[in-house]
Amino acid sequence: MSLTVAAALCCVVVVVLGGLPLSSEAQLDPSFYRDACPKVHSIVREVVRSVSKKDPRMLASLIRLHFHDCFVLGCDASILLNNTDTPTKIDSEQQAFPNVNSIRGLDVVNQIKTAVENACPGVVSCADILTLAAEISSVLSGGPDWKVPLGRRDGLTANRTLANENLPGPSDGLDRLKSAFKNQGLDTNDLVALSGAHTIGRARCTFITSRLYNFSNSGKPDPTLNTTYLQQLRNQCPKSGSGNDLVNFDLTTPDKFDKNYYTNLQGNKGLLQSDQELFSTSGADTISIVNKFASNQDVFFAAFKASMIKMGNIGVITGKNGEIRKQCNFINKKSAEVDLASVVSKETSSSEEGMVSSF
Ligand code: HEM
Ligand SMILES: *[C@@H]1O[C@H](CO)[C@@H](O)[C@H](O)[C@H]1NC(C)=O
Ligand SMILES: *[C@@H]1O[C@H](CO)[C@@H](O)[C@H](O)[C@H]1NC(C)=O
Ligand SMILES: *[C@@H]1O[C@H](CO)[C@@H](O)[C@H](O)[C@H]1NC(C)=O
Ligand SMILES: *[C@@H]1O[C@H](CO)[C@@H](O)[C@H](O)[C@H]1NC(C)=O
Repeated sequence: MSLTVAAALCCVVVVVLGGLPLSSEAQLDPSFYRDACPKVHSIVREVVRSVSKKDPRMLASLIRLHFHDCFVLGCDASILLNNTDTPTKIDSEQQAFPNVNSIRGLDVVNQIKTAVENACPGVVSCADILTLAAEISSVLSGGPDWKVPLGRRDGLTANRTLANENLPGPSDGLDRLKSAFKNQGLDTNDLVALSGAHTIGRARCTFITSRLYNFSNSGKPDPTLNTTYLQQLRNQCPKSGSGNDLVNFDLTTPDKFDKNYYTNLQGNKGLLQSDQELFSTSGADTISIVNKFASNQDVFFAAFKASMIKMGNIGVITGKNGEIRKQCNFINKKSAEVDLASVVSKETSSSEEGMVSSF
């Protein structure tokens, strides 16, 4: 590779990094697309509705996708970026431990993006699509609706390390859960309200086998597990199973967004350790919040709305920062980079080895 091209590539890197937002403040507005894409909500809704008719679990998967996006570099659609080497190297968050073989709905988001682009090209960010899909999924599963603040722009990078660090794990104790949320500006009330999303969806057996058979290497099950429920879960997740079988989060109404997550916790029927911790940690301030939500669904719904809006504001990119991605899995190629890429590929194709430039 010639020095000129190498130098030019360096300049491009500087320009790209220079465009990254150093700070961002929430300046979102539910009527952000009123003029440029007035039908965006109904377009997203129609795709989510039709997909979820065949696959009701998709509503849960889409809510989770928004959560996993927002906890890593803010709600910037970083989770959607695939591995790439050019124009910048991206280590996709999709291969981080909390996401790999776990997140669902990437194809549905692309379907939504295509539908939205057909109506209003180049206007609606992938980050806003994730946020809208989460609200719509709540509504379609029987949960609350809310006016979704909009105007997020898409980030230019992803960070797998941060995904591994920031996303809480199913065996986390209450202190770790609280601090993972606090790192994102979310408090204990948000933690309990947002965990209520586990009233829908599924988890793989692998996340509960230690609770069922050998909790903390005690050789016994988790003592906080209801013994009736324990038997049920052991039938669904045999000790020698693959770990990939699925269990409902809510044993009562698995696809309905309701307050049963909290009544389950009261009956010691939380699926994950991280769920049951909210009610079974002795003396914890989360117990009274669980009881409050368990006793009144309207109170839970109001709290869930407020916390979802708060979560949706984390680290948002607005104004002229970031970009509106054309395809949600890749950042847009700047025209200069496209030109350079063709120069580089001409050079490499003329060499026998076809070496790819690395920088
Ligand atoms: C409090 C800490 C949390 C932990 C430790 C946690 C952990 C998990 C785990 C381990 C799964 C199952 C993944 C799999 O089987 O592959 C899961 C699924 C799910 N999570 Fe969470 N989660 C937490 C908070 C949240 C929040 C805040 C939301 C949304 C607001 C959420 C929404 C969901 C949904 C809807 C599912 C089901 C997804 C599906 O069926 O595809 N979770 N979570
Ligand atoms: C992005 O990566 C995911 C796997 O993480 C894959 O399913 C998807 O097809 C990729 N998208 C594109 C457009 O290559
Ligand atoms: C990702 O985040 C980690 C942890 O904050 C940081 O050390 C690392 O430099 C970041 N990587 C990239 C590529 O930005
Ligand atoms: C529980 O796990 C520990 C540590 O891995 C192991 O030594 C022990 O044999 C296990 N007990 C049972 C009953 O599986
Ligand atoms: C366990 O579940 C059973 C059956 O659903 C219920 O009657 C019982 O009260 C629960 N036990 C505890 C300790 O929560």
